[in-house]
Amino acid sequence: MTTIEPTLGAVLIPALKQFVMATKLHPILVNFTAALIPVSVASDILGRIRKSESLRHTAWWTLFYATIITPFTAISGWLFWMHDDNGVTGMTIHKWLGTAMVALLFGLFAWRWNIHKRQQWPTWAYLIASAILAAITGFQGHLGGEQVFANM
Ligand code: HEM
Repeated sequence: MTTIEPTLGAVLIPALKQFVMATKLHPILVNFTAALIPVSVASDILGRIRKSESLRHTAWWTLFYATIITPFTAISGWLFWMHDDNGVTGMTIHKWLGTAMVALLFGLFAWRWNIHKRQQWPTWAYLIASAILAAITGFQGHLGGEQVFANM
């Protein structure tokens, strides 16, 4: 039992870090988060305007997959952290906003699940809240991209 903690710190986390660095997992996973959330929001808005059940289901399932994948996006971000990210204001915001996004997405998912179970159309309050999360996702991606591409 006493070996669990040192194993986690000394072996597992460095091994995961190496894996994430070698595979560039964070830049891969960000594409899913950055696509699925806005697609869900746009499908719900269009679905509600056009009264399209198909778009409403698209919105539910894309949010479902975004909620599964985004915690891994955030974890891979922590493991992808490099020395030159330290002290960069944009990256400090990126780190904490990305972590908070996971909690916000869980809240939005619970709200959307409730709507889905009752087979209702999403309310305008939900649509506005989800549009704000989509805007946050865009800003989050901008901050990450700025750090990677600004000096190229
Ligand atoms: C969960 C939502 C997140 C999104 C949508 C996101 C998005 C992005 C994007 C678009 C990039 C640029 C990738 C590229 O094309 O190379 C990036 C880079 C990066 N992100 Fe995230 N990110 C998220 C969360 C996080 C979190 C929680 C951390 C934690 C520390 C993090 C750390 C990083 C790092 C270290 C980089 C690379 C910066 C460099 O090259 O110096 N990200 N992110």
